[in-house]
Amino acid sequence: MRLYRSVIIGSGGYLPEKVVTNEELASSVNTSDEWIVARTGIRRRHIAAENETTSDLGRLAALDALSDAGVEASSIDLIVLATTTPDSTFPATAARVQAQLGMTKGAAFDIQAVCSGFIYALGIADNFIKLGQAGKVLVIGAETYSRILDWTDRSTCVLFGDGAGAVVLSAEPTNGESSERGVLSTHLHSDGRFYDLLYVDGGVSSTQTTGHLRMKGPEVFRHAVTKLAEVVWEALKANDLTIDDIDWLVPHQANKRIIDGTAKKLDLPADRIILTVEDHANTSAASIPLALAQGSKDGRIKPGQIVLCEAIGGGLSWGAAIIRW
Ligand code: UT7
Repeated sequence: MRLYRSVIIGSGGYLPEKVVTNEELASSVNTSDEWIVARTGIRRRHIAAENETTSDLGRLAALDALSDAGVEASSIDLIVLATTTPDSTFPATAARVQAQLGMTKGAAFDIQAVCSGFIYALGIADNFIKLGQAGKVLVIGAETYSRILDWTDRSTCVLFGDGAGAVVLSAEPTNGESSERGVLSTHLHSDGRFYDLLYVDGGVSSTQTTGHLRMKGPEVFRHAVTKLAEVVWEALKANDLTIDDIDWLVPHQANKRIIDGTAKKLDLPADRIILTVEDHANTSAASIPLALAQGSKDGRIKPGQIVLCEAIGGGLSWGAAIIRW
């Protein structure tokens, strides 16, 4: 039996043109730049144009990642797209992206794990590759959260933004040596008992409406720091690594205070963290691939380095991935 590993050969991102600052938000809801920066680290976010959908964002991020990888869309045999804000109830947003990329073969499907979506999608794609069922995979995180925000609720509407990120995975033969590039492991968790801490109050089978995002922020915050540190320790242990082996933490970008709190618990210095939350806000499933693309393209993340990703979101669902870039 041949064994494969999933090497990231390209990454990319796309952010809508329109930028909304905290000051601009403060003109429509009772908030301030000072409060948002102090409590979250967010200064601005990108918001999709009226005619821009999640598949548009996903396609543009995918094209950027394909170009970075130097491969044609026709060589991709699987698209796994993580989103909580699909274009339509069905078909999958991934199928639309597949067609828009000109692909006529392979499989394309969506997965839904809210802010942990990218880690889940990466885990699924990695397993397809390890089993020899896919040779080149596009993993996309794409979101238009602006469509599900209650713009009168200051406790949530200031926190999110729109965007998409993508990576291209390539199946490379493995000889099991720890110095090889590729996804080393992924670790996925969920606990549905916490469903009501972060959810959308609408849906096909319940209200037949799209609904709006609702969150018990402080409770999610408390779960976040503990569960993220735990899943990181689980991932390190599985690979026989310590936090000193980690070159870059690329966390889900929900709140700088969560990232700082988790890093403190892990004893990880701030100069080894890729941060985008200030400029992107929380883009849910898109936040990690956007940050990976940024860190890779600006030269901080280099081939061979060890990258740790972690995320938590609605479900609650959380997870971590360790990648030798
Ligand atoms: O992506 C996945 C998961 N999501 C998260 O990870 C989010 C987790 N939670 C958080 O990031 C934080 O809990 C928030 C940023 C949502 C809130 O920060 P907090 O420090 O936990 O504030 P709080 O909710 O305890 O609110 C403190 C005060 C309240 O006023 P009172 O009751 O103390 O008078 C809120 O009404 O701040 C008020 N407040 C605001 N004030 C100005 C809430 N939102 C705002 C706002 N502007 N936008």
